[in-house]
Amino acid sequence: MLTGKTAVITGASRGIGKAIALALAKNGADIAIIFAGREKDAEAVCQEAESLGVNAKAYPCDASDYTLVKTTSERILADFGRADILVNNAGIIKDGLLLRMDEADFDRVVNVNLKGAFHFTKHLARHIMQSPAGRIINISSVSGLTGNIGQANYAAAKAGMIGLTKTVAKELASRNVTCNAIAPGFIETDMTAGMPAATLENAKAAIPLRRIGKAEDVAALAVFLASEAASYITGEVIRVDGGLCI
Ligand code: NAI
Repeated sequence: MLTGKTAVITGASRGIGKAIALALAKNGADIAIIFAGREKDAEAVCQEAESLGVNAKAYPCDASDYTLVKTTSERILADFGRADILVNNAGIIKDGLLLRMDEADFDRVVNVNLKGAFHFTKHLARHIMQSPAGRIINISSVSGLTGNIGQANYAAAKAGMIGLTKTVAKELASRNVTCNAIAPGFIETDMTAGMPAATLENAKAAIPLRRIGKAEDVAALAVFLASEAASYITGEVIRVDGGLCI
């Protein structure tokens, strides 16, 4: 159980972040939700979490903005008094083949996905180090492991998150903080909803378990990594991809 702990989850107004936030809440953690836009969705997640008996609060914050993440982190600490678990989940895609990808699309994806994770880790690490069992969980992607056509920006950012994960794991281990990455494959969310049906069918055919994953499949691993049972696991990258990358 995570009772008495505070978890900060970025990009938790929907999709994988929402599933992780609610799963952590179900296990007793108070939750601070970071979102960009869609305030009503974030408030709905808070209400659902509160109905599970925990404290929950939503904070609008662009993860790519270093200063805004600093002030938001300070607000979270003022409201909750502690930070034990950080889940860097906020992410966007701006796909395009390398030859057509412009600089702005490369920068934006790296700034949200990779720098966003650095910003929250940087501003909360000192406080997570004060937790008896601090946890940092970064949501990477199989694209960061294998590369993916049309995703030079995204794959670079997600691979960067793996380097960040391993470094943070080494730097904070002496303070009993673990840092691990989850690399999802195809997961059913708004991010994948825009994909052509044929692409999803081809994906399914390539997945040994023959189905697209659910946000809850990722959330279950996040809860495990946040738990006491995972206290000897750090610097690890775990795929949740139905076997896609075997
Ligand atoms: P989604 O598009 O449903 O949700 C993304 C969340 O990130 C939203 O809550 C949004 O408000 C937030 N967000 C976007 N830009 C932000 C910013 N600048 N600052 C703060 N928050 C921001 O996406 P989904 O599918 O739930 O993805 C969650 C994470 O999982 C992402 O990092 C994504 O790259 C990763 N992932 C998703 C896969 C999938 O198949 N859906 C596969 C592999 C990784």
